Amino acid sequence: MSKNLPQQQARLVAAAARARQGAVAPYSHFKVGAALLNRQGNVSTGANVESASYGLTCCAERVALFHALTSGQRDFLALAIVARAPGGPMPCGACRQLLAEYAPTATVWIADSRNLQNVKEFRVLELLPAAFLKVPSNT
Ligand code: THU
Repeated sequence: MSKNLPQQQARLVAAAARARQGAVAPYSHFKVGAALLNRQGNVSTGANVESASYGLTCCAERVALFHALTSGQRDFLALAIVARAPGGPMPCGACRQLLAEYAPTATVWIADSRNLQNVKEFRVLELLPAAFLKVPSNT
């Protein structure tokens, strides 16, 4: 279904921008939205959720990924991330780790919410070179 990835870009970036409206960010006021597309054409979205215990905050990317995974989705093709940030928001290290494990071949599209047409493109493993991908056996 999702063969033509470039055609999916605008749709996925728009889904991330929409998801961003659901952000719960009372501390940073930095709202981030994410949308994840899989090979079957399913789109899972998420937004960041913050805690008064700041370290418990969960980024938009992980909310979208956890929702997709726990809905049974696999084979991720692309992830869009949108926030009001010059050039768009780059994913944090924790999210890069989880993406490397569960969406290693995905394309990442990043956009500023004020200019959704200007999209930066990366690959997940380009964002986390030499990733730790599994616990070695016989440890
Ligand atoms: N945040 C995300 O949701 N994704 C990113 O890619 C970067 C940071 C959130 C976490 C926190 O709620 C706020 O942005 C400020 O760090």
